[in-house]
Amino acid sequence: MALHVAVIGSGPAGIYTAEALVKQSAEPVEVDVLERLPTPYGLVRYGVAPDHTSIKSIANYLRRVLELPQVRFLGGVELGVHLSVADLLATYDAVIYCTGAMVDRRLGIPGEDLPGSVAATDFVNWYCGHPDVDPGRFTLDSTEVAVIGVGNVAVDVVRVLAKTAEELRATDVPHDVLERLAGSQVKVIHMIGRRGPEHAKFTLKELRELGELANADVCVRPDEAVALGGGFPRQVQGNVDVLRSWAAREPEGRPRRLDVRFWLRPVEILGDERVEGLRLERTRLSEDGRVTGTGEYETLPVGMVLRSVGYQSVPLPGVPFSEESMTVPNEAGRVRDREYVAGWLKRGPTGVIGTNKSDAAETVRTLLSDLEGRERVAHAPVEELLAARGVRPVTYEEWLGIEAAEEELARTLGRGERVKLVGLEAMLRACGRA
Ligand SMILES: Cc1cc2nc3c(=O)[nH]c(=O)nc-3n(C[C@H](O)[C@H](O)[C@H](O)COP(=O)(O)OP(=O)(O)OC[C@H]3O[C@@H](n4cnc5c(N)ncnc54)[C@H](O)[C@@H]3O)c2cc1C
Ligand SMILES: NC(=O)c1ccc[n+]([C@@H]2O[C@H](COP(=O)([O-])OP(=O)(O)OC[C@H]3O[C@@H](n4cnc5c(N)ncnc54)[C@H](OP(=O)(O)O)[C@@H]3O)[C@@H](O)[C@H]2O)c1
Repeated sequence: MALHVAVIGSGPAGIYTAEALVKQSAEPVEVDVLERLPTPYGLVRYGVAPDHTSIKSIANYLRRVLELPQVRFLGGVELGVHLSVADLLATYDAVIYCTGAMVDRRLGIPGEDLPGSVAATDFVNWYCGHPDVDPGRFTLDSTEVAVIGVGNVAVDVVRVLAKTAEELRATDVPHDVLERLAGSQVKVIHMIGRRGPEHAKFTLKELRELGELANADVCVRPDEAVALGGGFPRQVQGNVDVLRSWAAREPEGRPRRLDVRFWLRPVEILGDERVEGLRLERTRLSEDGRVTGTGEYETLPVGMVLRSVGYQSVPLPGVPFSEESMTVPNEAGRVRDREYVAGWLKRGPTGVIGTNKSDAAETVRTLLSDLEGRERVAHAPVEELLAARGVRPVTYEEWLGIEAAEEELARTLGRGERVKLVGLEAMLRACGRA
């Protein structure tokens, strides 16, 4: 009898896990991929920037896994809402949690909750059309915006703010969002790193793209573009060289300006009713290599602060969780008997899509070795349990209906290959469910 495994979450980690389970030859395995949204692919659909179309096309690889005969997609099913861990363990031989990292890390400074102070998670969800965020959520009515953090997500956010709506027209950005981007008042974007250029987390390719923006001049202050020390890895040296070359550039009078700043940490977001400024303190590294303030301050007159300082996983009901690492404690993917974890929930919110493949393979190796020779769970199909609770999962074919409606919408609007449908209702309507 085949091993029945539930994978929770259909992002890259969940789908690579399903692939590793069914493509090994030691054991026949059947996999149900349970996903809280009606749509698969996790951050590939709702994270990867809309203008990075070649990366988004990884979805074409992931779809082939969902189309394998041993794999089933069950959308609109949320662990903790529709099913409990006990339900899963009574239904499957094993369960693998792959729910990623859905919320923002906090800065912990005064003013962080003022209107106009926005988590990158929310802003990314907005321009990616995630059903958790209303397309009318943001109006870009400030002329100056600060983006805190110098990682690849910050770079994505900056690019979306700096480009014209016309440049994003051929992407899958929801139409309401595109209209709001077209009305953007943003003229100056400050991107702020709390350490030096040599410590920035963005990758060279992504950084270079900022220097090629047609609609924005990129400015770096010569005194901030200096890296301390030398002998950096190639990527880091590449970043430092690019930033130094930008410090020598003269602005060319493009409509927008991007100021990339270093050695500044946010200490307060200012404003009474909403964000009116951002107070920064100049930093240096202490003897032990930690960021420390110098007591020298500067205030930026921004009306919006985008906090892009990393994502964070949330605990799943009934699943162990470390508040220290904000991950599910595990040994090579094993959490407890018959429970496993993979992806960002397992190792934290770092790494590119491909990193999840080897990570998933490790978890699957552990699972197969643990369950070898074990008696199978006599299970009833999960749909019976869900039906008793009034839940009918969105099938893979129904998801294809949503995709087709998005392609049709793009044709109607004269845009690119697809335009995202926004809101659960619109998606369910598209697959004939509402
Ligand atoms: C904004 C952003 C842009 C990125 N861009 C790139 C890029 O261009 N290139 C690159 O290589 N990497 C990129 N990454 C990194 C890449 O997206 C991650 O490495 C990868 O998505 C992590 O995979 P995951 O499956 O662990 O999590 P996710 O992709 O987040 O998938 C988790 C899935 O679980 C589902 N889920 C959550 N809770 C539940 C629940 N209770 N029940 C059922 N389902 C649930 C979610 O809806 C989601 O579909 C980006 C990351 C971010 C945040
Ligand atoms: N195109 C791509 O390949 C792509 C696109 C997007 C995302 N990703 C990947 O997804 C992962 C997540 O990216 P991310 O940008 O969210 O995270 P990240 O790479 O960890 O970057 C987080 C940034 O926030 C800063 N930061 C953290 N806490 C701060 C604080 N309290 N005050 C000021 N700054 C603070 C960090 O600075 P310190 O270094 O000083 O802590 C760092 O610059 C990364 O692995 C990334 O490469 C890849």
